Amino acid sequence: MKILMISSEVLPFAKAGGLGDMVSALSAELARQGHDVRVVLPRYYSIDPGRLRRLEDPLGVPMGRDEEWCAVGTAMLPGTEVPVYFIEHQALFGRDGIYAATSGPDFEDNLRRFTLLSRGALQLARMLKWKPDVVHAHDWPAALAPVYLNTLESEGFFRSSGSVFTIHNLAHQGIFPKEEIEHTMLGWESFHGAGLEDHDQLNVLKAGLHNADILTTVSPTYAEEIQTPEHGHRLDGLLRHRSDDLFGVLNGMDYELWDPMNDEYLPAPFGADDLAGKAACKRALQQVMGLDVEPDVPLFGMVSRLVEQKGFGELCGPTHGSLYNICEDFDLQFVILGTGEAWCEKELASLAGRLPNLAVDLEFNEPLAHLIMAGCDFLLVPSAFEPCGLTQMYAMRYGTLPIVRRTGGLADTVTSYDEATGEGTGFDFDLLTPSAIYNTVGWSLWTWHNRPNHIETMQLRAMAERFSWELSAARYVEIYKGAMDRRSGSIPRT
Ligand code: ADP
Ligand code: GLC
Repeated sequence: MKILMISSEVLPFAKAGGLGDMVSALSAELARQGHDVRVVLPRYYSIDPGRLRRLEDPLGVPMGRDEEWCAVGTAMLPGTEVPVYFIEHQALFGRDGIYAATSGPDFEDNLRRFTLLSRGALQLARMLKWKPDVVHAHDWPAALAPVYLNTLESEGFFRSSGSVFTIHNLAHQGIFPKEEIEHTMLGWESFHGAGLEDHDQLNVLKAGLHNADILTTVSPTYAEEIQTPEHGHRLDGLLRHRSDDLFGVLNGMDYELWDPMNDEYLPAPFGADDLAGKAACKRALQQVMGLDVEPDVPLFGMVSRLVEQKGFGELCGPTHGSLYNICEDFDLQFVILGTGEAWCEKELASLAGRLPNLAVDLEFNEPLAHLIMAGCDFLLVPSAFEPCGLTQMYAMRYGTLPIVRRTGGLADTVTSYDEATGEGTGFDFDLLTPSAIYNTVGWSLWTWHNRPNHIETMQLRAMAERFSWELSAARYVEIYKGAMDRRSGSIPRT
């Protein structure tokens, strides 16, 4: 099958969160299963053009009243035969940042930037005379691609190409003033409730949700949740309407990149038969974070974007928050690695100044993320919502027990501790409140001190869990066939 992936993030070239991990791992696995996958991404400023091979012909992309001319670079997804195409445009991508400058507001011209991506990806396939069976678009930056397939491209080259749109995060919808519609080349005839219009503004995500042949999201529980007003971000009605075409497929994780037996960022390897290396990682982590080196003090960690979604309002919001009490009341150590909203960075920096057992690193640091997964005893993920979540899977692989809110992919991947039987792979709680986080941390500590044998068997069980891409990619292939059937009309779509 020929699959065109369109995404604003692709690991290792550009990553702000789990989207980049997901797109490259899925593409690699589909290729391993024999499919012809090609990936399109902007050539952001941080991607060294010296590492890319430039296509001979420039790419012309009709945008607004003009045609934009873009150079196109290519490279292989590391360790695969999957070509990645990088669309070059100095004015739109020649600056630091994927969606925004560090800690700043979103770029004002994001509609133009990501229109160029969606439109450019289709133009590129045409230029290469490579007709995709399916166009797989991810999150709002690629959401115009399925809209073009139903409008400007409904006849001709792409007539038989099905479309799949994956929701990685419903909170980001790509909302712009309606006057910007001219950048999209879609006329006012597309500005209606079943298209781009949303309360008299443009909503790019919503248009994608109406137009894609099939919708997916990254866990079965999140697929259910987004059909409710609580988690639907105002689009739950539309998602309920399309529920026959909406599927939740759990993300896998990359077991080669995240392997405690073979991880270049760790001072010592370890595995389920011998956890000695994990103790060495804990020591190294305490050292680099400036904490006392205390093997017996339980060490908690977080690796996260610093935003409300991830529970930081309840942990360290300006008026309340449990992080201070957790570090003050309990005998534990806490490390947090993250970047994000300015209020949160400021609050965490100030807490770390007051609390000797809290260490915070406000940067994006891949090696440190690995060391935290390996060196901690517990990883806290108290998300308000979590489409899938990858850090809890990484933690489990490294024998670090996740403490999660029971929502979305967290609910689908972590089994909560059962005191009676010792079963489970972590600890969970239901309502997101400061006291629920506090109490669940307390529960995990109680277990650590009073049921060490349960902690140990849970660690081994967590390390043995497998969230495989093999099965999830096979599921996507079925979904791609379903999209082609809907495109050809052999199966009706909602
Ligand atoms: P989301 O995509 O919502 O941010 P995920 O859990 O799916 O959440 O993915 C987050 C990814 O980003 C993980 O791979 C995590 O390790 C990584 N990550 C987040 N913040 C940082 C950081 N400051 N430094 C290094 N890696 C980070
Ligand atoms: C999003 C979600 C996260 C998910 C990731 C990859 O960024 O917030 O839960 O794991 O996409 O699908």
